[in-house]
Amino acid sequence: MEQDMIVILDLGSEQNTLIARDIRKLGVYTEIHPHDITAEQLRALPNVKGVILNGGPNRVVDGAAIDASDAVYQSGLPLFAVDHAVRAPQNLAGWPEDETARLRVLSDFVLGTCGAAKNWNMENFIADQVSLIRKQVGDKKVLLALSGGVDSSVVAALLIKAIGGQLTCVHVNHGLLRKGEPEQVVDVFRSQMGANLVYVDASERFLGKLAGVSEPEQKRKIIGAEFIRVFEEEARKLDGIEFLGQGTIYPDIVESGTKTAKMVKSHHNVGGLPEDMRFELVEPLKMLFKDEVRACGVALGLPASMVYRQPFPGPGLGVRCLGAITRDRLEAVRESDAILREEFERAGLAGKVWQYFTVVPDFKSVGVRENARCFEYPVILRAVNTVDAMTASIEEIDWALLHRVTERITHEVQGVNRVLYDLTPKPVGTIEWE
Ligand code: XMP
Repeated sequence: MEQDMIVILDLGSEQNTLIARDIRKLGVYTEIHPHDITAEQLRALPNVKGVILNGGPNRVVDGAAIDASDAVYQSGLPLFAVDHAVRAPQNLAGWPEDETARLRVLSDFVLGTCGAAKNWNMENFIADQVSLIRKQVGDKKVLLALSGGVDSSVVAALLIKAIGGQLTCVHVNHGLLRKGEPEQVVDVFRSQMGANLVYVDASERFLGKLAGVSEPEQKRKIIGAEFIRVFEEEARKLDGIEFLGQGTIYPDIVESGTKTAKMVKSHHNVGGLPEDMRFELVEPLKMLFKDEVRACGVALGLPASMVYRQPFPGPGLGVRCLGAITRDRLEAVRESDAILREEFERAGLAGKVWQYFTVVPDFKSVGVRENARCFEYPVILRAVNTVDAMTASIEEIDWALLHRVTERITHEVQGVNRVLYDLTPKPVGTIEWE
């Protein structure tokens, strides 16, 4: 690793991620570590230039106030304590709320006191990861479940650059992907990047398992379990795989790895694979924030439509075709979603609105088409903005755009005679309908 590093020790702060992102904005690499890091762990980190003792309201763990270990105080590294009075050398009561002021304080410590070099950039990151991946994998083979989402796509591109033909990507089409998605994955990775790509069209299999199942949680469970089964079957057909690539990113680790956070989310690994199929993990994005993952994808030559795509749930259109999935309604979701995306793109809203999609419920209403009664499904439009998906507000879609989308959906999508716009923020509605 070429990059200088600042270590942020979590001494109960709620601003570890904010400060980490600020330091990276200054062009310096940083990692967040638990308060009780040992001398050995600290020594193992490359090019550490200074440590921030990041105190805060969660400083009491198991009934006692926490402090950094002696190893940190005796390391000889420049130390900077914020909201942490214990044995602190340089101390600040709290971080300035204003970003410019905060960056000034950080710049003084990181670039001034510590003398860290501004060498955190995607070119260096990619060069480092390519050599780390080669060192970890040697001449062995790596398997990757490539969904076509941002994280798995960027991992694939990075692994192709590092080890090329030693990588096999498996793209499982569960029949619940958006229009054009499986084709794009095959085109980008097989045709343009020359990857070994196993494309599995398992649509019929998934639709068969889901037939008649209307309970949302049950649908999700079936899709998740079947996905692992298909992936496992493909993995067993391949010989000599020892590694599994995975698109773990930094927020996954930070959210599950701190010892002081009140709400700890569990970190979902691809897990679920049977005991006799344990692979060593290759997780080259595990230190990147989402925007850095996108920047890495761009630097590796992935198309913007892949790198900047909106979030899409694992169970895909399956949770937007409400109740028991039927082919006609699934097609209506897929076609109406494609129209909505096209019109948002045309209106310059793609990349500006956080998430937008269509939902098709399992009831019909009466309409009139070419002077005759029709009895068809409605399509519900949803467009929301959010920072963390925990709460969301409604995008105020321009009236003319709503008219255009309605016109197109009711004329171009088979079996749809009505369009509704969902005005519910989260809470009380979740973003997805199921
Ligand atoms: P909700 O519906 O809970 O959704 O408000 C919040 C965000 O999470 C996405 N979502 C999922 N993403 N697997 C995923 O990877 C899932 O099973 C899943 N369910 C919901 C949803 O699209 C929204 O962005």
